[in-house]
Amino acid sequence: MSITTTHAYSTTELSELAHRHLWMHFSRMGSDPHAPLPIIVAGEGCYVYDADGKRYLDGLAALFCVNAGHGRPELAEAAANQIRELDFYTTWSYAHPRAIELAERIAKLAPGDLNRVFFTSGGSEAVESALKLVRNYHLLTGSARKTKVIAREIAYHGTSLGALSATGITSLREQFEPLVPGGCHVPNTNSYRWPADRDPLWAADAIAERIEFEGPDTVAAVILEPVQNGGGCLPPQDGYFQRVREICDANNVLLISDEVICSWGRLGYYFGSERYGYQPDIITTAKGLTNANQPMGAMIASDRIAEPFMQGNRSFSHGFTFGGHPVAAAVALANIDIFEREDLCGHVREKEGEFRGMLEDLRDIPIVGDVRGAGFFQAIELVKDKTTKETFNDQESEELLRGFLSGELYRNGLICRADDRGDPVIQLSPPLIADTEQFEEISHVLRTVLTAASERMA
Ligand SMILES: Cc1ncc(COP(=O)(O)O)c(C=O)c1O
Repeated sequence: MSITTTHAYSTTELSELAHRHLWMHFSRMGSDPHAPLPIIVAGEGCYVYDADGKRYLDGLAALFCVNAGHGRPELAEAAANQIRELDFYTTWSYAHPRAIELAERIAKLAPGDLNRVFFTSGGSEAVESALKLVRNYHLLTGSARKTKVIAREIAYHGTSLGALSATGITSLREQFEPLVPGGCHVPNTNSYRWPADRDPLWAADAIAERIEFEGPDTVAAVILEPVQNGGGCLPPQDGYFQRVREICDANNVLLISDEVICSWGRLGYYFGSERYGYQPDIITTAKGLTNANQPMGAMIASDRIAEPFMQGNRSFSHGFTFGGHPVAAAVALANIDIFEREDLCGHVREKEGEFRGMLEDLRDIPIVGDVRGAGFFQAIELVKDKTTKETFNDQESEELLRGFLSGELYRNGLICRADDRGDPVIQLSPPLIADTEQFEEISHVLRTVLTAASERMA
């Protein structure tokens, strides 16, 4: 690819200016102000390029976002055409064709009677909207005390104060407390260290126990990802979601499926709930909806949940200026066209075995403990001792992930996620157009770098 970039500065100048002026998200900023930063200037397909022209395989799809791959000209055209036709109008009391068309298209793809689409600018806003909707729904239907939300440990549901009360990562929560009240947490489905004789539906039953403990008349909703990201791609046990659905129904508790990552083909289906055969009351989505070419998210609610808001002079008193932005909606429509034309969901279903097999082959490396996930959303858990499954302590984990792996993987041309919000994991979620060539490239870099990491930690 010949890279055309539009920046006026040298790579060093860009890096120094970033240190001076750009407040990067979730980034340590106290480091050496002259340390070079990874500056990405261009993307095409499964690859991105840095300011020096070096190519990287984007094994993270730009944070689980660019599912159809980088640099899609159809999306650029859709955005440009929409700006010429109608650059912006709000969905506060007005509507415009792109938001209407997109809402209809999403409703057709979403499971069951999830027919009402409330647009947002991203994932946290979608989750925030869902949390407000469930409280408001129970208020309108005569259960005003139902305000609590049950989520899972180490799950990430966003950073706004409401969404953060559902997020189950202590290090992200504690510095912003007190949070919105009502966030309760239960064990997740990471079964790697479970005793062999544990009931496979133990984690589902923990939700029933927590509802009982809190008092069923105080619990509004359960929020779960189809495959939990935090902790490293944790799939559900067989029957988990069916059991959760029963528990929710028995207690008049709503089920929110947070599919900010797990929709738009990531698990081989438009929506992750389809893969596991359950019917949520609300789905939250974002990221891959527009291929992240425009910021957009959505909360998709069932007819039953929307119904109380459609009566008389009631409304859902909640919104965002940019919700349903016409340029974002036009890009999302063009993105869904790509999904249909290229059958990206079918490609993931066809190739996930090969992708997973390549990761399984790394199990001979001493620090590779577990390999898990679904679709093009897979993780490797790194352990100190494979036999005992002993994990690294905080200092070792810091040295392994930040001191070595993150930098070394990047230097070797692979962008993926080295994360220790639970036990240390490497996460891979390439664009859905990835194929054998990219799997082999990922495998080669992982084998080189993880072998070196094993020797270093031995
Ligand atoms: C499951 C889940 N929910 C919510 C969010 C928050 O989305 P955003 O960063 O777009 O606000 C994320 C972000 O990664 C997520 O993975």
